[in-house]
Amino acid sequence: MTDPILTSFELAADKAGDVTDAIYEQYFKDCPGSEKLMEHVDPGVKGKMIQEVLRLIMVDDYQEESDYLNFEVNYHQNSFSVEGHMYANLLRAVHTVVKHSIASEWTEEFENAWVKRIEALSHELTSRHKIIA
Ligand code: HEM
Repeated sequence: MTDPILTSFELAADKAGDVTDAIYEQYFKDCPGSEKLMEHVDPGVKGKMIQEVLRLIMVDDYQEESDYLNFEVNYHQNSFSVEGHMYANLLRAVHTVVKHSIASEWTEEFENAWVKRIEALSHELTSRHKIIA
């Protein structure tokens, strides 16, 4: 059976094309401080970041991504002062944009799959973020 997450991404691409800009717009609205952290970042790098975020959302077993997740969370915390809660906000923004792009064709199956996947990936990311007293 095809993963509902993949089906939803295909539908969103058919209906809305490239959703990168819409994701950043939603994210900066929903996550105070995130726009400031990214104001120096050029569109190419921003696009590459979203490609990686979308790729991770399509993964259903994060064990294989463990080294990569360690690298990204360390890099984001040490080099850009990204805060732990910013990951879940970003994933929620992607969820919102994909859902709105699909509009009336969004199903309960998509919703359930997204809630589960976003929760799992948020946990993987947030648990790697070091709490510094
Ligand atoms: C699943 C979560 C995330 C992934 C996989 C991810 C991935 C990436 C990647 C691959 C790049 C580098 C692109 C390149 O140099 O070619 C990047 C850059 C960056 N990311 Fe993320 N990112 C994530 C979450 C976040 C969050 C929550 C923030 C908070 C605002 C953030 C802020 C940044 C910034 C500021 C850069 C700029 C790097 C630079 O100046 O070169 N990222 N990200």
